[in-house]
Amino acid sequence: MSMQRAFSSRLLHSTSFKNVFIKTATYEGMYDDGLPNDKLMKHHVDLAKGNVALTTISYGAVSADGRTFKTQMYINEESIVKLAEIANKVHEAGGKVSIQLTHCGYFSKNSQVKRPLAPSRVFNEYGFMSGIVFSKAMTKEDMQKTSNDFANAALRLKNAGFDAVEVHMGHGYLLSQFLSPWTNKRKDEYGGSIENRARFPLEVLKNVRNTVGADFPILVKLNLNDGFKNGFSLEECKYVSLELEKNGCSALVLSGGFTSKTPFYLMRGAVPLKGMIKNGTSLAEKTTMALFGPLIIKKYPFTPNFFLEQAKEIRKITKMPLVYLGGVDSKEGIEEIMNEGFDFIAIGRPLIHDPNFLVKLANQEIQKSGCNRCNECVVEMDRGGVRCVLDD
Ligand SMILES: Cc1cc2nc3c(=O)[nH]c(=O)nc-3n(C[C@H](O)[C@H](O)[C@H](O)COP(=O)(O)O)c2cc1C
Repeated sequence: MSMQRAFSSRLLHSTSFKNVFIKTATYEGMYDDGLPNDKLMKHHVDLAKGNVALTTISYGAVSADGRTFKTQMYINEESIVKLAEIANKVHEAGGKVSIQLTHCGYFSKNSQVKRPLAPSRVFNEYGFMSGIVFSKAMTKEDMQKTSNDFANAALRLKNAGFDAVEVHMGHGYLLSQFLSPWTNKRKDEYGGSIENRARFPLEVLKNVRNTVGADFPILVKLNLNDGFKNGFSLEECKYVSLELEKNGCSALVLSGGFTSKTPFYLMRGAVPLKGMIKNGTSLAEKTTMALFGPLIIKKYPFTPNFFLEQAKEIRKITKMPLVYLGGVDSKEGIEEIMNEGFDFIAIGRPLIHDPNFLVKLANQEIQKSGCNRCNECVVEMDRGGVRCVLDD
């Protein structure tokens, strides 16, 4: 019964989705000089053909300074041309398309940005080896501009035929840096209590909502927790979830982890250290990774539906549509999530392993994904495009 429910349609505002399945954002690395290419289009068209209701293009930086790397895409008059074509082709393939709206905050390896923006002046443990050592504490003008960048990007995408956007407030990126007491040391009304730390992310959401109108689906990706002591906590997530509901969030995607400190908290499984060392951008980075990687990068064992216990705490307190994410890889896992009352299910690695995963599940050709969480797909993102290496 619950499988049947998972494969039946549902609404977000007046947009109908053919089933509950969302392809979550997984950085594709399919760009030529910062512009989306045909490989990116094929990647998302294949997912739509594979019966994904809503596919999500990852990391749409809202501005040039919101990019982690200088060669990353940002939403502007150039990239929107190909993005509109991708939206059109995904529609022709029977699916819908969203994009993750992101600002990296201080997670910058972009040599064009000497002092990346952040809530406070903090050490850039993510990009210091590229010579970008400290962030700039954002002024109110920086905040207003960045908020407008989110809103303008969302409107551009809506006008280009996108069916939804996802505002990234998780994984340690800018809005998550505001939420986390680890990185937000401000003394003004944007720092201190969780009410204050949530103020800027909520202002961004309100601005996006006012700009795109009441009926356009806006998903928000939020951490259940940062995955370390003194980070954003589940109790704080409860408060923020309720505020997001009041301020125009259409559906909440629950995740966790902080890219610079607990990157594998959100993925679970193997840490593909060898490939990550090879991909290092400088000799210093490669050497540091080789020496300290095993100490710095904590490994978390994979278990199916690994965020479920924490996500259930949010399910208890809100009626807002919730998207479960993390370790869904089988019919049994899907049934469990449906029975716990989640509205949508987001899937990452099983759909990288096989874009036809859902078709095969529905046909009862398989019961479970063949993905073994080697996480080599993470390495492949920087080697010409995300893909599964299992069949090599
Ligand atoms: C190769 C790869 C790239 C990812 N890139 C992103 C990203 O750009 N944005 C994001 O929010 N999460 C990203 N993630 C995290 C996924 O969205 C998701 O949280 C994680 O893979 C757990 O879901 P799964 O067990 O269904 O794979 C990435 C994960 C992988 C494996």
